[in-house]
Amino acid sequence: TVEFSLRPRYLSEYIGQNQAKENLKVYIEAAKMRNEALDHVLLYGPPGLGKTTLAHIIANELGVNIRTTSGPAIERPGDLAAILTNLQPYDLLFIDEIHRLNRSVEEVLYPAMEDFALDIVIGKGPSARSVRIDLTPFTLVGATTRVGSLSAPLRDRFGVVSRLEYYSVEDLAFIVMRSADLLGVGIYEEGALEIATRARGTPRIANRLLKRVRDFVQVERDGIITGEAARYALDRIQVDKLGLDHVDHRLLKVIIENFRGGPVGVDTLAASIGEERHTVEDVYEPYLMQIGFLQRTPRGRMVTMKCCQFLGVEWPK
Ligand code: ADE
Repeated sequence: TVEFSLRPRYLSEYIGQNQAKENLKVYIEAAKMRNEALDHVLLYGPPGLGKTTLAHIIANELGVNIRTTSGPAIERPGDLAAILTNLQPYDLLFIDEIHRLNRSVEEVLYPAMEDFALDIVIGKGPSARSVRIDLTPFTLVGATTRVGSLSAPLRDRFGVVSRLEYYSVEDLAFIVMRSADLLGVGIYEEGALEIATRARGTPRIANRLLKRVRDFVQVERDGIITGEAARYALDRIQVDKLGLDHVDHRLLKVIIENFRGGPVGVDTLAASIGEERHTVEDVYEPYLMQIGFLQRTPRGRMVTMKCCQFLGVEWPK
């Protein structure tokens, strides 16, 4: 799909995340020099920052196959055992949403990560015994939006733990220019900066906005993304100057109007705007907290004075 073709395939094409990128480069080169499997890698951070992209890049840079699955997709220990026993030497196993693995599956993963082995229990009761099956060396890359939800034993088995950060506007503008090039749409730097400014630090959002802006300039304009055209299109799709969309606005308004600015519990808040609690926690809140509009307190969520100033409403305190 087009979405996939926008993804960089090698580290040299990957823009931003310099700390994670430069360190990974060293670990990958070292593993290749020694002819070893790369140590297991845990990638964490808000959605859309390129965890899946990085997993594919690591596999490409290592020159190995990638096998992709996710925490909720692996229901039973046998499912994971089947995947592990089918890996080729040095393959990369990518588990997205790894915090959602259930405990019995996680326990299969411990000896697999540590010793490249499976411990299978045969029989029940006093005659039960354990047989060890050797696995081929492999690299596990786990991705999660919530590193705090990972059990300590699992977290401790990753040799590399890498936190992805929100992108700067400059890096996002580079990404938008690169994507526009791949999509074959003309863009001025001012247009790229306008999209980047409203992309909430997130390449996935930047690329999505770019595609919508492209629709507007191709249907209603001359097909070139200028700064003015980008502003026009982004206003049309109700993405504001800070990149907040109508869900963000509804969330903040509900806290202000229905709960006098907070505190309000996250379950109540999610129900009030008709979203899942996890969507509120993982998708909407991290950016609102990052820009200083929302606070998580022990008694619940509260809007800040800065938020009210931006929205042009009186601070309810
Ligand atoms: N597309 C999405 N994320 C990207 C990144 N970090 N670098 C280059 N292109 C991208």
